[in-house]
Amino acid sequence: MTDQELTFPSDFLWGAATAAYQIEGAAREGGRTPSIWDTFSHTPGKVVAGHTGDVACDHYHRFRDDIKLMADLGLRSYRFSVSWPRVQPGGSGPANQTGLDFYRELVDELLAHGIEPWVTLYHWDLPQPLEDAGGWPARDTAARFADYAQLTHAALGDRVRYWTTLNEPWCSAFLGYGSGAHAPGRSDPGDAVRAGHHLMLGHGLAVQALRAARADHEFGVTLNLYPVTPQTQDPADADAARRIDGLANRFFLDPILRGDYPEDLRNDLSGITDFGHVHDGDLATISTPLSMVGINYYSRHVVAAPVGGAPAEPYWRAPSCWPGSEQVRFVTRGVPVTDMNWEIDAPGLVETLQRVHREYTDLPLYITENGSAFVDAVIDGQVDDTDRLAYFDAHLRAAHTAISSGVPLRGYFAWSLMDNYEWAWGYTKRFGMIYVDYDSQLRIPKSSARWYAEVIRRNGLAAQ
Ligand code: FCB
Repeated sequence: MTDQELTFPSDFLWGAATAAYQIEGAAREGGRTPSIWDTFSHTPGKVVAGHTGDVACDHYHRFRDDIKLMADLGLRSYRFSVSWPRVQPGGSGPANQTGLDFYRELVDELLAHGIEPWVTLYHWDLPQPLEDAGGWPARDTAARFADYAQLTHAALGDRVRYWTTLNEPWCSAFLGYGSGAHAPGRSDPGDAVRAGHHLMLGHGLAVQALRAARADHEFGVTLNLYPVTPQTQDPADADAARRIDGLANRFFLDPILRGDYPEDLRNDLSGITDFGHVHDGDLATISTPLSMVGINYYSRHVVAAPVGGAPAEPYWRAPSCWPGSEQVRFVTRGVPVTDMNWEIDAPGLVETLQRVHREYTDLPLYITENGSAFVDAVIDGQVDDTDRLAYFDAHLRAAHTAISSGVPLRGYFAWSLMDNYEWAWGYTKRFGMIYVDYDSQLRIPKSSARWYAEVIRRNGLAAQ
């Protein structure tokens, strides 16, 4: 509890985020070709209720109305992703002008409303032909990504200053190729590790090329980071936490911000790979200097040493997400959870921000995603999402605590602007500040949206 108003720095970038496949729809329009998520979602049994992103929020056709809603919220910035197969069908070769035009119009409309566009280049929609050629476990995909990044930057760079290469490479690598819970749905520990490396290589190549074109732009990557806590002080639990921290956080933080894989992680993975896929010069490319780091924060991992074999757990707790450390147990503490069953842990956001700043970098940090799924009810045309609002409030208070302690946090993007296609959960999980009725495509700003507009307006939080 605080009896004081919490004010944020005057240039704090208040935003909201989405991703192409989760909102655009128009999957077969304007020259777009399938990505791995089209193939995956159309494969029976992969996504809850067989939901696909074919129509999603129909944002492709409704983006002008959606930008009006953003303006009503007072957003200073909007983080969206470019669909690779929309702007470069098939994943190689020439650009698709119709696809690029869509994003140019989107960006122009944002700018016309005084909203800073923030592009994420890769939010998980690899063009299917590149997956057919080996996907991210294949080295060539990194070079293809750098080409696509240049083509997109060349088209939008005159009006977009903020560029994120990858969104959450952990998910692309370890859910996509480890557990197979995400597209492309493959399950091979070595492939997951190689995918993670090639994603980072693509990131580094892209940053080099884009910075050479526009040194005045801001370039970064977005990682999903978690504090990892051992269940007890027992050394075996501490070792379990070290292992999961290695795979979830340091697998990406260390190469990108320090130029090497951690020694203990290499040891943990020695039964899976000899790291022969890491070529001379890769780590220098991967650690190409950035101008900012994006952090997506949702929850904490609490883990423990194995006792008689790890229980099978769904999704990101599945043993196959954690190559070489499959036996670690994920512990449920019984604290309040969201509709994703993710524990609500706002202090973990402070820890995460402070850790990145203390251990890795002085660069400006941005929370590029933070939010929660809850079941919403439309009553008399209104959605009173007090639980989601409380989640945002607690995490923004945590963000303020981090800033007060010296963390150079420069912005916050709520996940998400509107309800959307939550990957393997289809439309069954709602993260939006704006409710979407998928039958009518009606949008209803929830209580959390009105509250967030007020936060932005006062540049801070009211006293409690
Ligand atoms: C993140 C993703 C985002 C959304 C949220 C809930 O992992 O980046 O697309 O699914 O989780």
